[in-house]
Amino acid sequence: MIKDELLEKIRSHRATVGVIGLGYVGLPLVLRFGEEKFSILGFDVDGEKVRKLNAGQSYIRHIPGERLQHLRETKQFEATTDFSRLAEADAIIICVPTPLTAKKDPDLQYIEKTGEFIVKTLRKGQLVSLESTTYPGTTDEILLETFKSTGLKVGQDYFLVFSPEREDPGNAKFSTRTIPKVVGGTTPDCLELGKTLYSQIIDRVIPVSSTRAAEMVKLLENIYRSVNIALVNELKLLGERMSIDVWEVIDAASTKPFGYTPFYPGPGLGGHCIPIDPFYLSWKAKEYDFSTRFIQLAGEINTSMPHHVVERVSEALNERAKSIKDSKILMLGVAYKKDVDDVRESPAMEIMELLQARGAVLSYSDPYIPKLHKMRNYDFSHMSSVELKADVLKSQDVVLITTDHTGFDYQSIVDNSGLIVDTRNATRQVTRGREKIVRA
Ligand SMILES: NC(=O)c1ccc[n+]([C@@H]2O[C@H](COP(=O)([O-])OP(=O)(O)OC[C@H]3O[C@@H](n4cnc5c(N)ncnc54)[C@H](O)[C@@H]3O)[C@@H](O)[C@H]2O)c1
Repeated sequence: MIKDELLEKIRSHRATVGVIGLGYVGLPLVLRFGEEKFSILGFDVDGEKVRKLNAGQSYIRHIPGERLQHLRETKQFEATTDFSRLAEADAIIICVPTPLTAKKDPDLQYIEKTGEFIVKTLRKGQLVSLESTTYPGTTDEILLETFKSTGLKVGQDYFLVFSPEREDPGNAKFSTRTIPKVVGGTTPDCLELGKTLYSQIIDRVIPVSSTRAAEMVKLLENIYRSVNIALVNELKLLGERMSIDVWEVIDAASTKPFGYTPFYPGPGLGGHCIPIDPFYLSWKAKEYDFSTRFIQLAGEINTSMPHHVVERVSEALNERAKSIKDSKILMLGVAYKKDVDDVRESPAMEIMELLQARGAVLSYSDPYIPKLHKMRNYDFSHMSSVELKADVLKSQDVVLITTDHTGFDYQSIVDNSGLIVDTRNATRQVTRGREKIVRA
């Protein structure tokens, strides 16, 4: 039987795994399958990434090049832009981007394109798993639909699952192997194959009843974060008016041993997931005449935070009889969160855009981001990170802390700056010069 043959190939680690989309999600999977001695074919449309990977080089800071080099030496891994080679893979895992369009609608072109690539070579005995975050129904409505033209029967000839990626870049406590993985299949046999595949590389696999349920799991996880972050952001705004330190309140509330999980306020949402994924669900909900009010409200509060930060900067300068216009403002950290080299959807970009529009003279310092590149919505590609030296800090009107990287010496930053606006409470341990700190 086709299913049994594939199960046997997977269990004996003789199956070839194809990973489509070799980014933050795809590459860790390549490495993990590599550790378990699978042969892996990596597919990407970006020829430069493919060239680097084949040379054993990584372009993601927390993924060491040596591990890729090792897989190249053992001849277990090859990257390619030639999608006709998808036929060589027994299991195909899709990790392509799922951004939003300018109107904040799901942009599924990457999944659609991938489906069109796969369908050209789809054959009996292949398992396809979608990992990209998306709304419930995508696996059925896009992939299953596209694959119908082959005449192959799902659950019999080939197998289809959805398994959401869970990653927390920069978190040293968990690894791909130890983060439990949810999987849902189009049919029970699809689920069995998906469970078997992921069980080879992940300690705990959690089956759910359908691909839709699995798709919804990921959205619930991210919406939960977005709503809770919005809640503390709102309380921060109230706290500022009431002269209550919301960080102190959160720390004290966190001592409750049950029923409370701390979330922290900040300059706005960042990263590839939390600012984007909830809109996938609110968009889909409209098809069901349903308005997802929590998502909308959280979105409103969180997207207003960069404006609030700019307002606080303006007030702090005003206190010193200055304006944003012509003020020198150094952004401290532009990554979307601490200790990562990722600027996607970083609130720092929106803040820079707002400050620039008001005439600020901007610079930034971020050891993780040596240079900024053109992004979908922002273009600060003329800017490079400046070295954080005393004379650089002294020459600024405002030092604006947007990312609380662990490596920054906050006492020295405060010692050498005239005015610090801190959006992350990164200066909480600073003892000297607190009068120069404004929290936003
Ligand atoms: N980064 C995270 O922490 C994270 C966590 C959970 C889920 N996700 C989800 O995983 C998916 C991938 O995210 P990512 O962070 O790895 O993105 P990424 O941008 O780091 O990587 C995506 C890769 O896909 C490639 N690509 C684009 N179109 C392609 C195509 N048609 N065929 C082959 N390759 C293509 C790009 O060149 C890029 O290398 C998204 O849906 C995202 O929401 C990301």
